[in-house]
Amino acid sequence: MQVLTNKRILLGVTGSIAAYKAADLVRRLREAGAEVRVVMTRGATEFVTPMTFQALSGNPVHLHLLDTDAEAGMGHIELARWADVILIAPASADFIARLTRGRADDLLAAVCLAGGKVPLAVAPAMNAQMWANEATQENVRLLSRRSVLLLGPDEGEQACGDVGAGRLLAPEAIIAQLAQLFAPGSLSGRTVLVSAGPTREAIDPVRYLSNHSSGKMGFSIAAAAQEAGAKVILVAGPVSLASPDRVERIDVISAMEMHDVILQQAKTADIFISTAAVADYRPAEAWSEKLKKEDRELSLKMLPNPDILASVKKKFPRLFCVGFAAETQDLADYAQQKLHKKGIELVAANWVGPAAEATGGAFGSDENALHLFWRGGDLALEQASKAKLARRLVEVVAQHFNGGQNKSVSNIHFLSKE
Ligand code: PMT
Repeated sequence: MQVLTNKRILLGVTGSIAAYKAADLVRRLREAGAEVRVVMTRGATEFVTPMTFQALSGNPVHLHLLDTDAEAGMGHIELARWADVILIAPASADFIARLTRGRADDLLAAVCLAGGKVPLAVAPAMNAQMWANEATQENVRLLSRRSVLLLGPDEGEQACGDVGAGRLLAPEAIIAQLAQLFAPGSLSGRTVLVSAGPTREAIDPVRYLSNHSSGKMGFSIAAAAQEAGAKVILVAGPVSLASPDRVERIDVISAMEMHDVILQQAKTADIFISTAAVADYRPAEAWSEKLKKEDRELSLKMLPNPDILASVKKKFPRLFCVGFAAETQDLADYAQQKLHKKGIELVAANWVGPAAEATGGAFGSDENALHLFWRGGDLALEQASKAKLARRLVEVVAQHFNGGQNKSVSNIHFLSKE
């Protein structure tokens, strides 16, 4: 399980022989699901090159405080705002001393000072005598009183040959202690695949068949799943919405494209929520040139598109699948048919078309109402903003996925129970 999914770690590397171990730390932080940005002090660059951290973190390394280019890109204030936690590893005796004085004379010190409420964790690494020195010990006590999280140091043989306390804590131990800073969400460490929006089925280069889906419901679900701690992959049809924060987005146009991408992404997912309004049919052929207007009837031959949700469930039977049902009549009957026919775990049904006029309808509006069905139960979620409904839906999905049945689902009206 990825214990730091979606977490943003700003890693400060200072001048210590243990700086090379920070390279392994970056790799492991990323394996734990975190996004990592590295700030190096000048001393750190004497031990390891910025290129190493750039390659391992996948992000440019930040080095200078008074660099106009860097400040125009992501300056020290933005870096501090970006982080969920600032981790200094290794933290040299000198950097710890500078931290206690509130210095801002290099980029890393300035970022720590600008961090405000961002948690600060410090993993010291230095010679045993330097660590034992009363000056260092006083500095460390001062940092502890300021709620700085102290990680280590470890004891053992040191690079200089001394034996004692001062070794950088092992990366696994640093990561385990960092993870404790974050309250786990109901979907922490899980991967949730969400489809959203309409698909477009080309008739010719300028015309297509589509529907009224705006993507709002699916994007809200992606955001809610991310808030619940999941890694989220959002496969979006053509919509004009900004990507939710910390969500990986893949844009597609047609149903066939969405089918291929979703089947590929489903391999690594734990949960699939199929909110997209996928076109059931596509023109048998798309004209390569614009169709000219002629004074006669035009017939379009249509071919059925694959049912993406059903294909995914068939290919990955252990994937927890949530389908949507957009209905203009007999909502409960059709929704339950979909649950059984597609062999999925949960269906979220909503009214569309004239039947939904009184409530604004599900398509395009900022609000919706959902009726959830699963084997042996159902739950009506009253009309609310799509953002709020999405959080409720994700809460219910997490409870079913994690094996519970509606424990602590609050403020929801039960229509019937088993
Ligand atoms: O995007 P918004 O404007 O916010 O509107 C939200 C919504 C109305 C689109 C959404 O709430 C919704 O109902 N989405 C599903 C729409 C739909 O296609 O319903 P359906 O009953 O036709 O399909 C049933 C299920 O099968 C859906 O989960 C759908 O994603 C899936 N499906 C359908 C056809 C197909 N070829 N492949 C599929 O996977």
